[in-house]
Amino acid sequence: MSQREQWSSKLGFILAAAGSAIGLGAIWKFPYTAGQNGGGAFFLIFILFTLLLGLPLLLAEFSIGRTAQSNAVDSYRKIAPNSKWHWVGILGMITSFILLSFYSVIGGWIVVYLFKALTGQMNGLTSDQYAEVFGATISSPLTSVFVQFLFILMTIIVVAKGIQKGIELASKIMMPALFILFFILVIRAVTLDGAMEGIIFLLQPDFSKVTSQTILEAMGQSFFTLSVGVSVMVTYSSYLPKSQSLPRSAFSIVGMNIFIVLLAGLAIFPAVFAFDLEPGAGPVLLFNVLPTVFSQLPFGMLFFIAFLILFLFAALTSAFSMLEIIVSVISKGDAALRKKWSWIIGLAIFICGVPSALSFGILSDVVLFDKTIFDLADFAVSNVLLPIGALLIALFVPARMKKTALYEELKLGSGLKKGLFEAWFILIRYVAPILIIAVMLDGLGLF
Ligand code: PHE
Repeated sequence: MSQREQWSSKLGFILAAAGSAIGLGAIWKFPYTAGQNGGGAFFLIFILFTLLLGLPLLLAEFSIGRTAQSNAVDSYRKIAPNSKWHWVGILGMITSFILLSFYSVIGGWIVVYLFKALTGQMNGLTSDQYAEVFGATISSPLTSVFVQFLFILMTIIVVAKGIQKGIELASKIMMPALFILFFILVIRAVTLDGAMEGIIFLLQPDFSKVTSQTILEAMGQSFFTLSVGVSVMVTYSSYLPKSQSLPRSAFSIVGMNIFIVLLAGLAIFPAVFAFDLEPGAGPVLLFNVLPTVFSQLPFGMLFFIAFLILFLFAALTSAFSMLEIIVSVISKGDAALRKKWSWIIGLAIFICGVPSALSFGILSDVVLFDKTIFDLADFAVSNVLLPIGALLIALFVPARMKKTALYEELKLGSGLKKGLFEAWFILIRYVAPILIIAVMLDGLGLF
């Protein structure tokens, strides 16, 4: 058997795992979902779910991956041979497939903006005009499908090359740069006239706006932003040497994520209120607001272009992980097969994603359960498939892994205290399953 590829450094793994986690979820989805769900209370519930469920589940996926040292499906097979548990991995592959099919639509929107900014089409418009131009662009069938294709093409090319060379190197430079630019953006946004209302909207919880749907959305959002529930993190941690601390990696990824969510919120909502925009505008929110904020900065267009490049990169590193989990199962470490299947699966995802791209234009009237095709795919992934995947992982760990072995695995390189380990185990064994089932039944109206 050939030696499995490993991350060349601890930082490499953290950056790639954080790269999978930090993406459209924190930067695009969080602001619009929070905007639709009343702001502060949603933010608070999201943080609670992230700490109570997301973090423990991330650690659970890490322990599965590094214990088994295999891909998302075989990891379950190795730990629980002759059982049906590997279906958790297969479910993760299916979820990833659907996820990338609509994720690429938004990835494409970034490409559109980048093109427009680079060709000087974004200079000096008013905030209403930005929204108008953007609306017209994404409703054009040809443009939206073409840029979606470009986004998937970039994903395929990197995944076809192999995990380490493709993902690790780029993450090292781009991720810190993204943080810095976000910071500049936040400073500009919170110093706008009328910014305070937006800050209050984000940070002051108003529980009268909370419904069972809000709670489900907040839980889905926390799984979505951490890439939890699809076994992506099982796959990534399987490349990690035994000397690295899993808890520390999990903590830093969760920390970075919450931080970027906060930055995104602080960049968007002050501007939404300062320019009298609509916080509940939906998936287009970020794209309508951003250019206006940048236009308020000196050298705004230059900053905007830099931001779009980094944003595109953040979305791509997440997209890589979605395709990677599927391809790594099918190609089983064979480089030639990896190449072939990256293309086949990537193109299949593109084809299945076209209706989502058209949901903002010619298919906008096609509505199922009150949702467009795009919204339905997003809802199914975030609020149904990710929670089910997370639930199964929470059930798998105590059912099929030995507690002592788990403790040993988590202790490697971290010296994790027994008490913390026990707390984690209780969260996984009891809290996660009960909470996920309750929130899902309630939020989906099945109670
Ligand atoms: N966490 C990614 C984001 O926030 C999305 C993702 C979810 C990626 C699940 C992989 C698996 O953009």
